[in-house]
Amino acid sequence: MIIIKTADELKLLRKKFIEAKKDVGFVPTMGALHSGHKSLFQKSLVENDVTIVSIFVNSTQFNDRSDYANYPINIEKDVEILEQSGVDVLFLPNYEVIYPDNYNYRINEYLFSKTLCGRTREGHFEGVLTVVMKLLNIVNPKRAYFGEKDYQQYLLIKNMCQSFFLDVDIIKCPTVREVDGLAMSSRNLLLTKQERETAPHFYKILSQPYTIKKTEEELVNFGFIIDYIEDLHNRRFGAVYLGKVRLIDNVKL
Ligand code: PAJ
Repeated sequence: MIIIKTADELKLLRKKFIEAKKDVGFVPTMGALHSGHKSLFQKSLVENDVTIVSIFVNSTQFNDRSDYANYPINIEKDVEILEQSGVDVLFLPNYEVIYPDNYNYRINEYLFSKTLCGRTREGHFEGVLTVVMKLLNIVNPKRAYFGEKDYQQYLLIKNMCQSFFLDVDIIKCPTVREVDGLAMSSRNLLLTKQERETAPHFYKILSQPYTIKKTEEELVNFGFIIDYIEDLHNRRFGAVYLGKVRLIDNVKL
């Protein structure tokens, strides 16, 4: 696997792939890779000639400083996972590479990004859309892969690409879960043993044909603090806190 740290080097390599008529698939991540991430690059490996994965813990999308400070980082293990999976290129930029403008230029969406997670996470989607736009411009892939676990993020990115006429297929991948139903997430590593035992009830309760009120009551009984439970686009979306850890999930209605 080739590891690249600068935008210029990646663009040069990308040019070579275009000349060789190779389809490039791209999976942006923030690392601490788990089977959810793996399912994305495995799909890309099947559908493209070359798969590029990026790892960049994007500070601009963290509205909460301590969430950023505590975000799990495990780069050696990540490299091992990527190499074993057969990923071709790892793009590993730092803040200066991605933000030579020091985040003075930004992408914003003024409607859907203000709902659900956007209601309480001020500036979160601005950070996400800006970094994804930058990464897509550097990598210039034919296809880019995103998880249904972050459904609002997926929809915002898909619509951003349409709105700005980007030539990329945004591919949606199903949520990968632990055997007990908990959606895999890098933040699960931060749960205490007891919180980890409670966490699967989030998905179990969210999946029941309850009213929103009943869903909220059941979650509170298990000790979850509710950010929101909402039905939209024929899906039920939820965000809850378990101790200090914020969990999100969504299910088809
Ligand atoms: P991160 O949380 O690392 O997730 C990277 C990708 O993996 C996202 O598309 C996310 O939806 C997907 N993913 C995470 N958990 C998953 C699961 N259990 N099943 C399926 N897919 C899953 O999302 C981000 O990073 C960032 O916001 C990013 C898009 C990289 C921009 O910084």
